[in-house]
Amino acid sequence: MSKVTAAITGINGYVPEYILTNDELATMVDTNDEWIVSRTGIKERRILKGTGKGVSIMAVKAVRGLLNKTNTNPEEIDGIICATITPDLTFPATANLIAKEIGAKHAFGFDLSAACSGFLFALSTGAKFIETGSHKKIIVIGADKMSSILDYQDRTTCIIFGDGAGAALLEANHEGLGIRDAILKSDGSGEQYLNIKAGGSRYPPSFETIQNKEHYVYQEGSSVFKFAVTKMAHVAKEIMDKNDLKGSDIAWLVPHQANKRIIDATAKLMQVPDNKIMMNISKYGNTTGGTIPLCLWDYESQLNKGDNLILAAFGGGFTWASIYVKWAYNPKN
Ligand code: UT7
Repeated sequence: MSKVTAAITGINGYVPEYILTNDELATMVDTNDEWIVSRTGIKERRILKGTGKGVSIMAVKAVRGLLNKTNTNPEEIDGIICATITPDLTFPATANLIAKEIGAKHAFGFDLSAACSGFLFALSTGAKFIETGSHKKIIVIGADKMSSILDYQDRTTCIIFGDGAGAALLEANHEGLGIRDAILKSDGSGEQYLNIKAGGSRYPPSFETIQNKEHYVYQEGSSVFKFAVTKMAHVAKEIMDKNDLKGSDIAWLVPHQANKRIIDATAKLMQVPDNKIMMNISKYGNTTGGTIPLCLWDYESQLNKGDNLILAAFGGGFTWASIYVKWAYNPKN
């Protein structure tokens, strides 16, 4: 009997309506469109406006669309894994809130925290439930409401990030399609370069932590940039070499959308030309857990059964990862 693989049998995304342009950001901090575009490739990003609206609102919209597209009854879902660093609440897990909203009465749910590599860590984890045969339908979500943890007076961080959510359905495949291989890596010494200092158990919220702005993203941009360029490119190359893939074998590179310059460096090492790189950073910015499923969603109509995709990410932790996927279906009308 052929080995069971976990195939992505549907993909969907959701971004909020509000568009925050570079020009609007320039009215809030000392920056300009030319600097942001040339240093990052970002022209605009989406923001979830309104009080009392958590990341689950976007994830639920992405998942409802996914169920609709794939004709899936929510009661058939066995499990939901939500990669996010901006959960609605410290607990319970956002995945449980999503399950309740969509009516996934028989699904287990948990959140996974691996920052910008979160969707890849979740995809690899979800695939194991399918590959072992223990579960039939798993939904993997990457979603973040980055606007909830940004200081809009800090020009070094607020220009990069945006809000958004993407979701994939995983099901068993017997033709060798789906998740073929995954390499996941972490290095906790990255904490010093990219973190949110307070709000966890080490420094619970207090008057001081709020006054010192310690609930916002802190990033040493140029240090993170150097790690990201090297690690994301190398892990993508590593999975290609491990699976005897050359640049010409790759239909699409699906990189985490943190900075166009990091993406270009990764593509160069992989010898993948520009027209094979999924890129939507210009319109969404860095949505952390959301970037890779949002790319797959945007490019879904161009994907064909059997296409070789290399997914690659780098983020806080540090975490970094690559996944080799054989796409499982042709465009649906
Ligand atoms: O996805 C999670 C992982 N995160 C990443 O992968 C992000 C990696 N880092 C980056 O993408 C880049 O480092 C940034 C986009 C964050 C910054 O770009 P950079 O080319 O590394 O700029 P820099 O931090 O070296 O700053 C260069 C200059 C500085 O001015 P001086 O000291 O040369 O006078 C900054 O103060 O640019 C200045 N600057 C800005 N100027 C206008 C920093 N932010 C801005 C801004 N607008 N928004």
